Amino acid sequence: MGFLCTLLLLWGCVTQLLSDNKDFWKEEDKQKLGYCDWKCMKFVQSWPGSFCVFLGKRFNCMIPEFVNTWTIHGLWPNDVKDCCNCWNLFQSDLLDLESQLSLYWPSLINTTSFLFWKNEWHKHGSCAGCIETLSSPSKYFRAALKLHTFYSMDIAFQRAGIVPSCDRSYPFKDLSRTLLSAFTKTPELQCVMDEKGREVLVQVKISLHRNFSSGCEDFQEASNPSSSPYRPCNKNSNIYYFPINRRTPRDPCP
Ligand SMILES: *[C@@H]1O[C@H](CO)[C@@H](O)[C@H](O)[C@H]1NC(C)=O
Ligand SMILES: *[C@@H]1O[C@H](CO)[C@@H](O)[C@H](O)[C@H]1NC(C)=O
Repeated sequence: MGFLCTLLLLWGCVTQLLSDNKDFWKEEDKQKLGYCDWKCMKFVQSWPGSFCVFLGKRFNCMIPEFVNTWTIHGLWPNDVKDCCNCWNLFQSDLLDLESQLSLYWPSLINTTSFLFWKNEWHKHGSCAGCIETLSSPSKYFRAALKLHTFYSMDIAFQRAGIVPSCDRSYPFKDLSRTLLSAFTKTPELQCVMDEKGREVLVQVKISLHRNFSSGCEDFQEASNPSSSPYRPCNKNSNIYYFPINRRTPRDPCP
């Protein structure tokens, strides 16, 4: 099935390149064919320490015992979603990656991690699969794990002495300068405001070229509103980087 889908996806790409007259396609198909047009993707990492601060009450927050690092949220090609429903993800696709994924790409709410991976695969992976280096579940998830090592938030912050704390906050400029020197381009830092009015770092988006080098989009310019509750951190604020608190994850620093 995976193989068949790879063929279908490739065929879609090729057809799109070759066909001048796209009227043959239904409107819906045309949109789907755009799935391979993307130039940039976002590698998104979440900080478990603040992930639950803004989490809707309909979710149960669960930070697994062994999770102590920045975690992967996803690898998202820009502007495309849900490209190939037929391309199912099975637990057996990830057998040799599962222990790594559980550590670095865990679900932080009360769904199983596999369900989280499956959703990410359907929503984003099926679109990423049109480039050779990401053209199967195993390649896609393996690539994300490599990116997590390569663009390590934990190491970048540790080296700069930026450590989780309830008391200390960091000027936005210090965080962005640190990541600029670590990753050559500044990623988008996303924040939420907690009930005490503190600006809290929760997620980081690194814009990647298809070859995985960073800086495909300039986040200085782009500030697309999205459906996510997270928004770009206020550049004039001091930013809190809360420690992981498994007992009260929604209010880690009461
Ligand atoms: C997760 O927790 C919420 C809130 O307690 C509950 O309504 C929901 O059914 C739970 N979902 C799962 C998959 O356990
Ligand atoms: C990656 O791709 C970008 C855009 O095509 C290019 O500018 C850059 O030099 C490439 N980087 C490497 C390491 O090949």
